[in-house]
Amino acid sequence: MLDQVEEVASQANAELQKIASLDELEGWRVRYLGRKSKLINILRSLGDVPIEERRTLGARANQVKVGLESRFTQKKEQIELLKNQSLELEKIDVTLPGQPYQVGRLHLTTRTIKEICDIFISLGFQIVEGPEVEWEHYNFEALNMPAEHPARDGFATLWADYKTETGARPMLMRTHTSPVQIRTMEKAKPPIRVIAPGRVYRYEATDATHEWMFSQVEGLAVDKNITMADLKGTLFEFARRLFGQDRKCRFRVDYFPFVEPGCEIAIDCFVCGGKGCRLCGSSGWIEILGAGMVHPEVLRGCGIDPEEYSGFAFGMGVERIPILRYGIDDIRLFYNNDLRFLKQF
Ligand code: DAH
Repeated sequence: MLDQVEEVASQANAELQKIASLDELEGWRVRYLGRKSKLINILRSLGDVPIEERRTLGARANQVKVGLESRFTQKKEQIELLKNQSLELEKIDVTLPGQPYQVGRLHLTTRTIKEICDIFISLGFQIVEGPEVEWEHYNFEALNMPAEHPARDGFATLWADYKTETGARPMLMRTHTSPVQIRTMEKAKPPIRVIAPGRVYRYEATDATHEWMFSQVEGLAVDKNITMADLKGTLFEFARRLFGQDRKCRFRVDYFPFVEPGCEIAIDCFVCGGKGCRLCGSSGWIEILGAGMVHPEVLRGCGIDPEEYSGFAFGMGVERIPILRYGIDDIRLFYNNDLRFLKQF
């Protein structure tokens, strides 16, 4: 019987080492310390054991029982501790602030273009687009600027590396959005009311006021009986919607080869109200766009009879608007991809 007790002890100890869960441990307890277990049965039947054997057997069986019981308690505590530790590790503090979520936004230029377009759409204009890599013909000739025209000097041009058989290089990065006027008139018959937003390029050294790429919005209206009054009314309304209802507009004569007459439009300074300040260069006026009545030659070139139809056109720089509004002092900030700048708008 003593042998059986020793066997139970070593078997129970060996098994206990492999146990990792409370369920398994309970099974173990029932097997080795339960009412029907071998050890308890031996203890229960000690009375039947001869007296000389009884003392040693009883002492040893009890020792083993107490030992297994204490190991059981130890193991139980150990498992519970491990369980608590892993719970502690898995615990989520729902009161911690969340990970900041990066919300994107439209670029300041895109937003300004949308704003400009929305105004003209509400005035009955339609949005059209043209290519950024353009033929010399559309960028210059068709706009009344033949090869030797001095006005071309004002458009520092980036020419594309493309040669025809004769060695001419008739492709360029468009220097303004005005070629879209020509593309539109070639395709559509009047009445025409379009605006053309897009990027333009100039071969220029960059500094605080010059970028080699920027954006413009072009406008064109062609119909019967379009006059300078339509031009003034439309652009005055535009300026007031963009810069405030009490803005005043100044129309002055200017020259652009593709319009006749041509004009430059300025608004009274929205910072000083016309008194003169740093923003308006103490003149009280801020120039916002160029415009004019479409030149008869330009209409004719597109197959539109200038005796029957007339039109007005205008073009404006997009970045200039937020530059004025927010007092941005360097145009290069627009395309530096510096989020610290872009996130502000
Ligand atoms: N294309 C001109 C420029 O880039 C701006 C302009 C002036 C556009 C007068 C027009 C216009 O349509 O009528 O400087």
